[in-house]
Amino acid sequence: MPLLAIETTCDETAAAIIARDRTVLSSVVASQELLHARWRGVVPEVASRAHVERIIPVIDEAVARAGITRADLAAVAVAVRPGLVGSLLVGLSAGKAIAAALGIPIVGYDHIAAHLYACRLAHGERMRYPCVGLVASGGHTSLFLVRGPTDLERLGGTIDDAAGEAFDKAASVLGLGYPGGPQIEAAAVGGNPKAHRLPRPLANDRDRMDLSFSGLKTALRYLVRPPGSPADVPAPQGKTLADLAASFQQAAVDSILAKLTLAVERTGCRVLAIGGGVTANSLLRESIEQLGRKLRVDVLIPPHSLCTDNAAMGAIGWERLERGEDDGLELDVLPGTDRSAARRKSV
Ligand code: KG4
Ligand code: ZN
Repeated sequence: MPLLAIETTCDETAAAIIARDRTVLSSVVASQELLHARWRGVVPEVASRAHVERIIPVIDEAVARAGITRADLAAVAVAVRPGLVGSLLVGLSAGKAIAAALGIPIVGYDHIAAHLYACRLAHGERMRYPCVGLVASGGHTSLFLVRGPTDLERLGGTIDDAAGEAFDKAASVLGLGYPGGPQIEAAAVGGNPKAHRLPRPLANDRDRMDLSFSGLKTALRYLVRPPGSPADVPAPQGKTLADLAASFQQAAVDSILAKLTLAVERTGCRVLAIGGGVTANSLLRESIEQLGRKLRVDVLIPPHSLCTDNAAMGAIGWERLERGEDDGLELDVLPGTDRSAARRKSV
């Protein structure tokens, strides 16, 4: 009997049905991109309300597409951390209601660990532990020593903006829409990545595996609108836009590659697992593949649909269920990134 996984950490309402052998029977994602586009970022209250409207239809759609009924479900898994508290609560409430009504177990899972578990879904046995994991998304950019599916040690990460947040803000500076990552990627086509020398903060610091993106974002802003320029400077167009987008994208990718290299060298791991929305970026994917060949490590990158937020990666819930774990109706959300709190709750 399969698992129902629910994902509502940010602005995607998602549900998936996953068999015990980790076969994904269905995966439904209702994106809220259009709702947030006019603010060029996620508005938490708008996100929570949209989750409330969509969560039951999305779950019903996932159940129907899997060719089962709710009564066939063995358990429920819900992403309970990290994320927007209002959004998380909608998924958890729906999950608890279904688990209680059917009398089946419910387990919480960590959204970041799930992003890396997408590599297990996409690449099966090639996902070996320990490995180095990189999650680069709109809310998080962190490097981990991954000892097991639910056993992650943080090696470092951004000290300010997440990589996806930097892409989103850079897109806004360039007059592009939301979400910014795909728009910057498209605008960069044909651009010269060396046209502008943008900063790669911390990239040469070999003492820490931390990253920083806020200086890069600010540098781009001052290139587009130098201090003292009028507020109505027109947005860059054509080749100017392409060069700016390509230079920004290259700087962001270089920053990530520097720390990935360090993490592989320091840990000696032979497997590199990548996840999160930013890893849908073609330049980043190709650059990491290239790095893998150079360092002789097996690079695991999920297909696009498993990089951006989805509930199929909630298959990680099976790892806890197979250990006989059941959080029951006491399960609560943990919006922050405090891993010790998560460990206390063994999520
Ligand atoms: O993992 P995700 O779907 O949601 C979070 O957990 O945050 O990541 C969303 C982020 C957004 O910031 C978006 O701009 C970025 O991933 N993104 C990309 C690309 N596609 C999505 N960034 C760079 N290049 C892309 N092609
Ligand atoms: Zn995510």
